[in-house]
Amino acid sequence: MSPLIVANWKMNPPRLDDALKLYKSIATLSRSLKNIETVVCPPSPFIEPLMRSLRSSPVVLGGQNIHSESSGAFTGEVSGSMLYTAGARFVIVGHSERRAMGEDDELVSRKVLAAYKARLTPIVCVGESVRDSSGDYLHIVARQLEASVQYITGAQLAKTVIAYEPVWAIGDTAKKAAEPRDVEEMTLYIRRILADRIGPNKAARVRILYGGSVNAQNALDFLGDTRADGLLVGRASVTAQFLTMLKAVNAA
Ligand code: PGA
Repeated sequence: MSPLIVANWKMNPPRLDDALKLYKSIATLSRSLKNIETVVCPPSPFIEPLMRSLRSSPVVLGGQNIHSESSGAFTGEVSGSMLYTAGARFVIVGHSERRAMGEDDELVSRKVLAAYKARLTPIVCVGESVRDSSGDYLHIVARQLEASVQYITGAQLAKTVIAYEPVWAIGDTAKKAAEPRDVEEMTLYIRRILADRIGPNKAARVRILYGGSVNAQNALDFLGDTRADGLLVGRASVTAQFLTMLKAVNAA
């Protein structure tokens, strides 16, 4: 499995011009990188212009959020089929910044199902808010994961991307990224939970990403045999660092 690197641009950059420049630089570089897969998740209004800006691109586009229903009176929301039509093939679901706005596991699980109905591959985010010495974070992540994928079939789960994003390691307020050994523990643990539901062979092929303060310096620390199968990158994904990171992961 080649590493999957997902750029979560969040609500950046402010201008379409800059988004186009950034996307083109990633796509141009990616043409020569054969050992990785790259997904860029821009703000929704930018998905279609980015898709149309290049005749073909090795970079796949994704949404950052999806509504659980396919249409209706949901002011301000975007459906899976709208994302798909705009050019997205992936969608981030249950990001901690969305969970902080009130999304619970039940809603996340309906969004995961909505993603499959729209032919999008969900990238389901899970992660504990704090770490305590009693090891409770393992159970928190287990419960979150099981509940978040409760409505999809085993075959769908086998194709789902899971992103382990400890909330304490995400964003400007984070003091640091997780330690590689923490990520290793969690990816093994998540795979065991998946194996309970879909068996060890299928679980072995599910991509589990790490996200939280990933940058060009630490990216490689999280990848490797027993660690994550890819990265979900926030802040660093809208800077030139992202290109350095892609090159490094491709060459590793
Ligand atoms: P960060 O964000 O890389 O800026 O910590 C990661 C994420 O929110 O997905």
